[in-house]
Amino acid sequence: MESYPGFHSLEDERAASLAVEGSLPEWLTGSLIRNGPGTFSLAGGESVDHWFDGLAMCYRFTFDPGNQARGSTTGAEDAVHYRNRFLETDAYEEARTGQFTGGFATGETTLRERLRAFVTEPYDNTNIIVERIGDRYLALTESPRAVVVDPDTLGVEGHFQYDGSAPVGQLACAHLKRDPATGTMFNFETEFGRTSTYHVHALTDDGGRRHVGSVETDAPAYMHSFALTPRYVVLTEFPLRVNPLTFLTPGRQAPFIEQFEWQPDRGTRVIVMDRSSGRVLAEPVADAVFGFHHVNAFERDGGTELVFDVETIPDATAIGELSLESLRDGDLNAIAGRLERFTVDLGGVTGRARYGAEDTTVSREMLYDDGTALPTVSPARWCRSHRYVYAMSMDQPATEWATGVVKYDTETGDVSEFDSGGDYFGEPIFVPGDGATEDAGVVLTVALDVDAGRSRLLVLDGQRFDERARAVLPHFVPFDFHGRYFPEVRAKPAG
Ligand SMILES: [Fe+2]
Repeated sequence: MESYPGFHSLEDERAASLAVEGSLPEWLTGSLIRNGPGTFSLAGGESVDHWFDGLAMCYRFTFDPGNQARGSTTGAEDAVHYRNRFLETDAYEEARTGQFTGGFATGETTLRERLRAFVTEPYDNTNIIVERIGDRYLALTESPRAVVVDPDTLGVEGHFQYDGSAPVGQLACAHLKRDPATGTMFNFETEFGRTSTYHVHALTDDGGRRHVGSVETDAPAYMHSFALTPRYVVLTEFPLRVNPLTFLTPGRQAPFIEQFEWQPDRGTRVIVMDRSSGRVLAEPVADAVFGFHHVNAFERDGGTELVFDVETIPDATAIGELSLESLRDGDLNAIAGRLERFTVDLGGVTGRARYGAEDTTVSREMLYDDGTALPTVSPARWCRSHRYVYAMSMDQPATEWATGVVKYDTETGDVSEFDSGGDYFGEPIFVPGDGATEDAGVVLTVALDVDAGRSRLLVLDGQRFDERARAVLPHFVPFDFHGRYFPEVRAKPAG
């Protein structure tokens, strides 16, 4: 097996009951559902060029403490029921039958293909994450076409269409943000035009969508995520920009993601929108920086100070560097980031009846610059101040995939690292337990044992940050993107 099996395809689909080495907490009875590129192979020996274009595969890990794995002879007292499956979407069927017409980053496209992929029949290779809205589980990507997934079988049940007349765009954001206090989810879409617009929406559990507000831009930014607090929606408009008219010009063109251009002179516009009125309260500009992931955001001093953490990358030639060819060569700098804190002082504008707050400022503070990827916080702290950030641990410069995961304490600056001697790690997901402190719970992460050619699910103690349980999978899992823990997706009784 080559040095980076994590960037190679997995064709194997399994349902298996796994014996747990160690012990699971008895309250851990839900499921972790992860999503990512499962295979890079198309029909006829062809393959996609870019990591982001691998065909979506979902992985479900259902925790079953106190019940032995079905058919187990190990004597282990707890089980994890595992299933992995390709999302059988339109994109999947086309790719497997030789009709692949280009994803976000693979192959040149014609205008007709671009319009189809983003407008008339948006591309549905939803390989970024699975989120729950109401009672639906949606696999998401950056086209505005969500795929409804059965959380048990991982089968595709159809496409999801929001109700309502909110203004829509051609580019969506896969990272919805939920306020756990209200349960409301927010999202935004980008509408291309002579003047382009970001439309912010609040999503309702019944499948509806309320228009919160809109912001114009002359050149849309690539924004993979955004920030949410109890009062504010924050769009960080990085200077990685696309010319919307070029995108709509006839002729063959580079893949969609390569049409974004790094324009550092623009700086980074921080758009602060009032969550209830939709008014833009402030739009200060920070120095040029790029980031895929907002970690969390919160307010201080009665909402007069807005704080948000972003995993930043100094230069956004990043996306082009994520071709499978360069990743397999060990060029991983585009993935390794650092944790930065942005603070916007809103003291002078929150009381104003009208917006126009270009005079506000944003400051930046480096929290941790030793190399991270896919940072997360406890979902109990979303929209509220957090103390701990969990992330994959990357070297800087990054010539190797993450060989550990870190827990960073934003109050003390202390860092705990967990590794297991040469394994490659995925995104750490914190699941809050029943303890009083923020880190009382477990951290779930999938590690790839390169020597064995297999992956294992690791359950780390959130406070001690050491291993308390593991379950070995029947195969290796390619490096994936994001997971979500769903407490309500429970084990089915055996039989
Ligand atoms: Fe992401």
